[in-house]
Amino acid sequence: MGDTHIHIPVMLDRTVELLSPALSLPGAVLVDATLGMAGHAEAFLDRFDQLTLVGFDRDQDALDIAARRLARFGERVHLVHTVYDEFETALSELGILEVSGILFDLGVSSLQLDRVERGFSYSKDAPLDMRMDASSELTAEKILAEYSEGELRRIFWEYGDERLAPRFAQKIVERRMTRPFRSSVELVEVIAAATPAAVQRKGHPAKRVFQALRIEVNQELAVLERAIPAAISSLAIGGRIVVLSYQSLEDRLVKRAFAVASTSSAPAGLPVELPEHRPELTLLVRGAELASVEEKARNPRSIPVRLRAAERLRRAA
Ligand SMILES: C[S@@+](CC[C@H](N)C(=O)[O-])C[C@H]1O[C@@H](n2cnc3c(N)ncnc32)[C@H](O)[C@@H]1O
Repeated sequence: MGDTHIHIPVMLDRTVELLSPALSLPGAVLVDATLGMAGHAEAFLDRFDQLTLVGFDRDQDALDIAARRLARFGERVHLVHTVYDEFETALSELGILEVSGILFDLGVSSLQLDRVERGFSYSKDAPLDMRMDASSELTAEKILAEYSEGELRRIFWEYGDERLAPRFAQKIVERRMTRPFRSSVELVEVIAAATPAAVQRKGHPAKRVFQALRIEVNQELAVLERAIPAAISSLAIGGRIVVLSYQSLEDRLVKRAFAVASTSSAPAGLPVELPEHRPELTLLVRGAELASVEEKARNPRSIPVRLRAAERLRRAA
């Protein structure tokens, strides 16, 4: 597949608008923690001609495409193959102490979804892989072969919000006793057969199970939970962070991390708030912002997006 592959950046104008005040100064550094095919990154580099961009991705294929797309910006671009919870280490290896802006555009890219052999899609037959980083060890196939029925039930329930989690876990364990799962179609068949006709489903019956497996394979929530506080502490005063989440579990983690950092830590009843109790962040949008109706119609990837943004007010004590 060539570089012509399309991934339309989500809420691009709004992201640029929110990060702009932090990026206009000379020496500004933007971290794109989920570089993907660099759609957002390219727009920022074009717009701010003094900007240095650090791009992280755990997927080497995505980085290779991004490197070609961003080659014309020369030394203004640093690409790092890493999981984004290694935020501080990756920056310190580049000699960068603090940054002006940070973008997280979470989840999988169109490239990953459309590369059939990566096994992210329930609508195409493929090996049960689902690794964003092809060099990591845990795959969906391994989970389906080795996790106990209780563990399978938990991940389908917690990460897929799947009401039929106990039933699906039981059927998977029954089936693997005779034959291990090798391909996505085999898993889809078991799930479809285990879904009672009377149960009304929104979307594909295997959608939630596939989401849950992907989150577990890539440890997406644990990594995000570590990464957001690390990212906040790398922000310079006046620096800004924007996070685009595509499912409620991710958005809840981001909301919580922003709430902690934007709340005064002054003990109740203290007559005056001391400087060290003042919040570190101020929220830039009320709640979570959604894509416009026009964008949702133009780019279906933007339908579930939740955008949150904040600015750093002060350093932690
Ligand atoms: C939605 S895409 C980003 C698309 C990008 N904004 C664009 O406009 O082309 C998300 C990217 O983040 C990467 N990613 C997801 N989780 C990651 C993590 N924990 N660490 C590093 N990269 C991650 C994925 O491999 C994927 O390439």
